[in-house]
Amino acid sequence: MAVGTVLVSGGTGYIGSFTSLALLEHGYDVVIVDSLCNSSKVALDRIDLICGKRPAFYELDVTDEDALDRVFKKHPAIDSVIHFAALKAVGESGEIPLEYYRVNVGGTLALLRAMSKNNVPNIVFSSSATVYGDATRFPNMIPIPERCPIGPTNTYGHTKAMVEQIITDHIEAERNKLKKAGQAFEHFNGALLRYFNPCGAHPSGLMGEDPQGVPYNLLPLLGKVATGEREKLLVFGDDYPSRDGTAIRDYIHVVDLARGHLVALNYLREHKPGVRAWNLGSGRGSTVFEMIKAFGSVVGRDLPYEVMPRRQGDVLDLTANPALANKELGWKTELTMEKACEDLWRWVSNNPRGYRQDPPAELLEA
Ligand code: NAD
Ligand code: WQD
Repeated sequence: MAVGTVLVSGGTGYIGSFTSLALLEHGYDVVIVDSLCNSSKVALDRIDLICGKRPAFYELDVTDEDALDRVFKKHPAIDSVIHFAALKAVGESGEIPLEYYRVNVGGTLALLRAMSKNNVPNIVFSSSATVYGDATRFPNMIPIPERCPIGPTNTYGHTKAMVEQIITDHIEAERNKLKKAGQAFEHFNGALLRYFNPCGAHPSGLMGEDPQGVPYNLLPLLGKVATGEREKLLVFGDDYPSRDGTAIRDYIHVVDLARGHLVALNYLREHKPGVRAWNLGSGRGSTVFEMIKAFGSVVGRDLPYEVMPRRQGDVLDLTANPALANKELGWKTELTMEKACEDLWRWVSNNPRGYRQDPPAELLEA
């Protein structure tokens, strides 16, 4: 029998597909809902290929409360939700803010309502380190602990901070309702997982990030420079007060990140703590130049770059203090950013067209 059944919104996307795989590998049943606006159903085949189990799948928009309600009714065993479905491009969020609020905030409202209607008690939410904004504005907040005051600096970050608040208020209200009725109020629980910079791919080379549009994150772009799809990497600023002048980020392997969701969910189910926020990062910061070097050494040659002015909205340093997740969840990263570079290179070099091509036979035989 399954350990539990989890509805994963956005489960065919990058982090959602790795988390669905981790859940299946640890005995959970998985029901994915996704609109496929930034992902492909082929992710389901790859999950199956790797672990021999296939999630149930429904193509729907997460803002459609009635469609969600029908899925919960069809799968009454669902007792938890991991909520990934969202729009995530920081630059675009400033251009079409209403769409970001509709999907990210409106989608969460629809999901929470459908969960309430169907008495589904646990939610794990994809938040982001971006909620902290520029933590260097406070003394002693790098590496960033969860107690660092939040202060997003872009629309995307505002949607994440709002959803954190909405989940917090909702769970508290649900618990109070049960308390008043003299029932076990610990029933409702939430985890707010603040990820730092997710990257990498599955070590098999069979699963990785395959967004529909043009990538804007550092590692996917480095992948494109390495395959020759891009001539060079544009480095956004070498005048930061860091060890080499470029900005510092905490790069976390997507396999470690997926495991973080699994342990957070297990913690909610076991300890029923109410709402908790946890940083999911390695605690190790790397500069842009260090990443170019690390990826280049995996590829086996220096990767071309050109220094440009700083990108608007970028901050000097987003490095996690992951002590709370270490202590409470017993979770810490096991895979280095060098390993993430190695796995990413295996993914992009073997699957230049992502999920739009069959994986090479060598990978299937391995
Ligand atoms: P992704 O785009 O690969 O995955 C998101 C999934 O949600 C996609 O499959 C997309 O098709 C789906 N989706 C989008 N809008 C939807 C809608 N209206 N209805 C149903 N499905 C919809 O992104 P990802 O990198 O896997 O990110 C997953 C979550 O993690 C997002 O909430 C994102 O904001 C958050 N996050 C990502 C990062 C990162 O750098 N990748 C960092 C911190 C937080
Ligand atoms: C990393 C570093 C850039 C591209 C974003 C979101 C954050 C989270 C993760 C979702 C920065 C530099 C990048 C390039 C460069 N996503 N860079 N040239 O900005 O830290 O975080 O993704 O929640 O919310 O803000 O990630 O990969 O874009 O940039 O020099 O072409 O690489 O300036 O220092 P970022 P990133």
